[in-house]
Amino acid sequence: MAIKKVGVVGCGLMGHGIVQVSAQAGLEVVALETDAGALEKGLGRIRKSLDKLASKAVEKGKKTADVAKAEADSAFARIKGTGELGDLADCDLVVEAIVENLDVKKSLFAKFGEICKPDAIFASNTSSFAIGAMGEASGRPGRMVGLHFFNPVQLMRLVEVVRTDATDDDAFSEARAFGEAVGKVPVSCKDTPGFVVNRLLVPYMVQALLMLERGDASKQDIDTAMQFGCGHPMGPITLTDYVGLDTTLFILEGWCENYPNEPAFQIPEILKRKVSEGKLGRKTGEGFYKWDGDKKA
Ligand code: CAA
Ligand code: NAD
Repeated sequence: MAIKKVGVVGCGLMGHGIVQVSAQAGLEVVALETDAGALEKGLGRIRKSLDKLASKAVEKGKKTADVAKAEADSAFARIKGTGELGDLADCDLVVEAIVENLDVKKSLFAKFGEICKPDAIFASNTSSFAIGAMGEASGRPGRMVGLHFFNPVQLMRLVEVVRTDATDDDAFSEARAFGEAVGKVPVSCKDTPGFVVNRLLVPYMVQALLMLERGDASKQDIDTAMQFGCGHPMGPITLTDYVGLDTTLFILEGWCENYPNEPAFQIPEILKRKVSEGKLGRKTGEGFYKWDGDKKA
C-alpha cells in the first residue's frame, strides 16, 4: 500500500476512531481539530481505548502485558495532534470526519485542494452527502472517494468505500487497501444517498422515533423488541443516542431537502425537539436516555 501517512480532520466520535485504527495499523497520523478541547478529548479517548484493547488482548492470552503495552504506546506515539491545516500537506490520504454539513465540508475540501500534495487521496466519512460534490469542491474529483466507517470505529468491522464516476482507479483501489490495512471489511458502493447501510438503517431509526412519538410503545420496549426479536446488539432509540441526535437530524434535513418525494426520508418532531434542547445523545450525556460516558446510565 502506498499510503504511509494519513491526515484525519475532526477528532470527534468518528474521527478519533479513524485516527486510532490508522495508528494501530502502523501508519503515521495527523489528527486535525479546530477545537483544542475536542482534540484533547479525542486523544484522551484514544488512549483509553488503546489501553482497554491492550488489557483485553492480555486477558484473552493473545499478548503478554509488556507487548500489549508497548504496542499501545507506539500506536499512540504515531499520532500528531494539530490545529494547523498545513500539517496535512504531505499526507498520502486525508480523511474528513467533521460536522455533517455539506457547505462546511466543501469549503474544507477546497482548502485540501490548495495545500495537499498532488497525488494525495481525499476521503469523506460523510453519512449522507454526495462524495462527488466534495470531489468537485476540492478541484481534484479523480482523487476523491468515500470512506464510510461505523461507530464505534474501533469495534465495527465494516467500511464502505465509495467511488464516483470521476474517481481514479488507483485512488479507489488504494482506499480499499487502506480499509483492509486498518482491519476492516471493505464493501464497494456507488455515490448514492446513504450508500448501503444508512439508506437502510436511518429510515429504520426514523420509524422507531415516529413510533415513540405516536406513543405506540415505550422507548425501552421498542429497543428491547429489536434486541430480542431481531438480535440487534442495541435497539434503534439507543442507537440514535449512540450515533448522535444532531448527526441524525443533519442527515435527514439534507435528504428531505434534496429528495422531497422520498417517503422514507422524514424528520420526527421528537428528534428536532431534543436537538433544540441540546440533548444530542451519548456525546452530551443525554438524548433519549441518560449516558455515563459510553454506557447508558
Ligand atoms: N474501544 C475499545 N473498547 C471498547 C470501545 C472502544 N471504542 N467501545 C466499547 N468497548 C469495549 C467495552 O469497554 C466492553 O468491554 P468489556 O467487555 O471488557 O466490558 C466491550 O467493548 C463491549 O462493549 P459494551 O459492554 O459497551 O457492550 P456491547 O457488547 O453491546 O458492545 C457495541 C458495544 C459494539 C457498540 C455493540 O453494542 C454494537 O455493535 N452496537 C451497534 C452499533 C452500530 O450499529 N453501529 C453503527 C451505527 S450507524 C453508523 O455508524 C453509520 C452512520 O453514518 C450514522
Ligand atoms: P462529532 O460532532 O462527534 O465530531 C465532529 C468534530 O469535527 C468535532 O470535534 C468538531 O470540533 C470538528 N470539526 C468541525 N469542523 C471542523 C473543521 N472545519 N476542521 C476540523 N475539525 C472540525 O461528529 P461525528 O459523529 O464524529 O461525525 C463526523 C462525521 O462522520 C459526520 O460527517 C457524520 O455524518 C459521519 N459519521 C457519523 C457516525 C456516527 O455514528 N456518529 C457514523 C458514521 C459517519
